Amino acid sequence: MNILILGSGGREHALTWAVKQNPKCDKLIVAPGNAGIAAIAECADLDILDGGAVARFAEEEAIDFVIVGPEAPLAEGVADRLREAGLLVFGPSKDAARLEASKCFTKEICDVANAPTAGYGHFTSSEAAKAHVRKNGAPIVVKADGLAAGKGVIVAMDEQTALDAIDDMFGGAFGGAGAEVVIEEFMEGEEASLFVLVDGEEVLSIGTAQDHKRVGEGDTGPNTGGMGAYSPAPVLSAEIEAKAMEEIVKPTMKAMADRGIPYQGVLYVGLMIKDGQPRLVEYNVRFGDPECQVLMLRLGGQVLDLLQATAEGRLAEAQVNWADDHAITVVMAANGYPGSYEKGTEIKGLAALPEDSMNMAFHAGTKAVDGKILANGGRVLNITARGDNLQEARDRAYAMVDQIDWPEGFVRRDIGWRAL
Ligand code: AMP
Ligand code: GLY
Repeated sequence: MNILILGSGGREHALTWAVKQNPKCDKLIVAPGNAGIAAIAECADLDILDGGAVARFAEEEAIDFVIVGPEAPLAEGVADRLREAGLLVFGPSKDAARLEASKCFTKEICDVANAPTAGYGHFTSSEAAKAHVRKNGAPIVVKADGLAAGKGVIVAMDEQTALDAIDDMFGGAFGGAGAEVVIEEFMEGEEASLFVLVDGEEVLSIGTAQDHKRVGEGDTGPNTGGMGAYSPAPVLSAEIEAKAMEEIVKPTMKAMADRGIPYQGVLYVGLMIKDGQPRLVEYNVRFGDPECQVLMLRLGGQVLDLLQATAEGRLAEAQVNWADDHAITVVMAANGYPGSYEKGTEIKGLAALPEDSMNMAFHAGTKAVDGKILANGGRVLNITARGDNLQEARDRAYAMVDQIDWPEGFVRRDIGWRAL
């Protein structure tokens, strides 16, 4: 099977690593990829938001199966374009990708499905939005409707912060994404994520994870794309997972199918858990980054069979073979991230790291220049390890971190603290 993976982050390095282990995988191309991916697969310089260009490339390379990593091409309709060209694709249609691309759409679907989530109001003018905040008071959550690179959500602990956020959003701080605003009830509890494959009809859980969104130790400081993650998430017990599937995932997936927009791909189910009850925080239409890295290390080569079964509508006959294991990933980021940071600094010591089914240094933002590995982004490496328990996995991951010589980068030293 000839496979094309779209994306260039740590998530796509982990997907590439797992897919490659499956004996069914023949040719493997990643577009655009990164320096870590280039060491295990061919990389192609393609504009992955251009569905026509991706379809032409896939035809030239005799690709059988395309796996879409990030949300942006999905929201652009790249999966639709590829399916029109007759390709097998893992990832939802543009319409179904609205589960991530529009917060209003997701809230509406949750209403139809009667899925437990935060109460909300939906506003197209700042006066009405502000009146809602004044009436309900803080804490309260203000969200730009559209995709805003993870920055469109303000959890306001006081009223003024919420009012300012409304001004920012209607003032164009998030471009088109902020033309509509959702204001939600603040939910208390512990957050965790559930990852579910959906083939339009059937759903299959492929694991749980928790990430650390804040840049600083003890979960302090500004929000980031994620500074580390681990799987499984102990707070998402089998009982709570079953509840989330029955009360949230299955009814919303049925509501999508009933509307004529069946969902196909991986569904990232962000949950808030309090007193044994899960409520939906958000859906994403792709794997989490860095959550994907821990899931891939745990699942290995079977991932290709699972993704293929999803794309072919055969999930009813698929199953996951679990080892009773734990995985953790520690993000190494450039000093200054999530604010401004330097690119192009050299990272040494990577070649000496172990690379096997227990230890992987996934590249998130790197570039190879004259045989050197240079940092090329904010989140740069995802040092990922597996073990019989979380402590063992964590010790392995930090042992690798300590072998890396990169003074211009930093890590959080407390990834996994909640679970340990
Ligand atoms: P989202 O992009 O919707 O996941 O929001 C980003 C983060 O904001 C979530 O991971 C939560 O930590 C937080 N958040 C979003 N909505 C709520 C809510 N209704 N109550 C409490 N926290 C929330
Ligand atoms: N790690 C959070 C996300 O991928 O959205």
